[in-house]
Amino acid sequence: MADTISSAPQSFDRVRAVEWTKDRLSLLDQRLLPLREEYLTFDTVVGVAQAIRDMVVRGAPAIGIAAAYGVVLAARERYRRDAKTWVTAIEEDLALLNAARPTAVNLAWAIARMRRIIGAGINGDPTPVLLAEAQRIHAEDIAANHAMGRLGAELIAPGSSVLTHCNTGALATGGYGTALGVVRAGVAAGRIVHTYANETRPWLQGARLTAWELMQEGIPMTLIADGAGAYLMQQGKVQWVIVGADRVAANGDVANKIGTYMAALAARHHGVRFMVVAPTSTIDLDTPSGSAIPIEQRPESEVAAYGDRRVTPEGVAAWNPAFDITPAALIDALVTERGVVPAPDRAKIAALMENPR
Ligand code: MRU
Repeated sequence: MADTISSAPQSFDRVRAVEWTKDRLSLLDQRLLPLREEYLTFDTVVGVAQAIRDMVVRGAPAIGIAAAYGVVLAARERYRRDAKTWVTAIEEDLALLNAARPTAVNLAWAIARMRRIIGAGINGDPTPVLLAEAQRIHAEDIAANHAMGRLGAELIAPGSSVLTHCNTGALATGGYGTALGVVRAGVAAGRIVHTYANETRPWLQGARLTAWELMQEGIPMTLIADGAGAYLMQQGKVQWVIVGADRVAANGDVANKIGTYMAALAARHHGVRFMVVAPTSTIDLDTPSGSAIPIEQRPESEVAAYGDRRVTPEGVAAWNPAFDITPAALIDALVTERGVVPAPDRAKIAALMENPR
């Protein structure tokens, strides 16, 4: 295993899923991975909103970044149509983007940042000014991920193994990843020797995306069925569970991919530590606690099928919440780019957010 680690490139940072190329947005179509690696290009905001809804691009920070580029496309189009009214007209596009997926707060956060630039007043063609802001959001996200990677890895004892859920890597962010950024940094530092990945039904972000991403980097990993996590912990095979977040409420409760709460409960029972890795753009002080976080409900058909193949009796009823809430009390560490919050609560999160960068 040591050989595998040392033969991999030390930065472990080769994957990019969101790119602005010349004058349009390019997205790696995550619905097709790992069987096909195809990029789709977008030059309209309607197309970007649809891509977010349809999971071409997914993962909270990546959704926010894609939406920021979507605002650039919207402004370009609206300004071309009418240079006098574009500032008012673009509100319709911002609402369309905002409604694409409800749980990941990075979407609303990125749109609010772009709206502030628009509100401050732009002379002439808004495209270059807004593109610069979208690219700043993108670059800041990658920088935050590297910072969180270092901070999170420092919490992990050398020689540890970890379990992760969903995909929180370069595919889910501007690059490098949140929880998978900690895995990348932890492997590079020799602190993480093995990573287990939950398959993450029903979209299989773990089986399709995390497995693909870690194998691209030569990071040793083992895939498990979601139901195997508690047994893995009981067997003493992992010391940490490391996950990302779609929204962190003001009291520290965390919305993340369905199944995260189950992993947190099992971790506490088995004395396995539980780390949430999320940039401050995922912290929502306007949401007081987890119960106020809107949870996306997705089609029943996603649960009734395995990929494209139906595996259930026709017409079976299914319940398909895309996210769940992990109470703050089950979280040992919240890792952000501004620092680590041990055992997060309302007061510690307020203090973190008040701190200047
Ligand atoms: O439905 P998805 O694939 O967009 O869900 C993604 C997750 O739940 C991730 O864990 C979360 O967005 C953090 S990604 C850095």
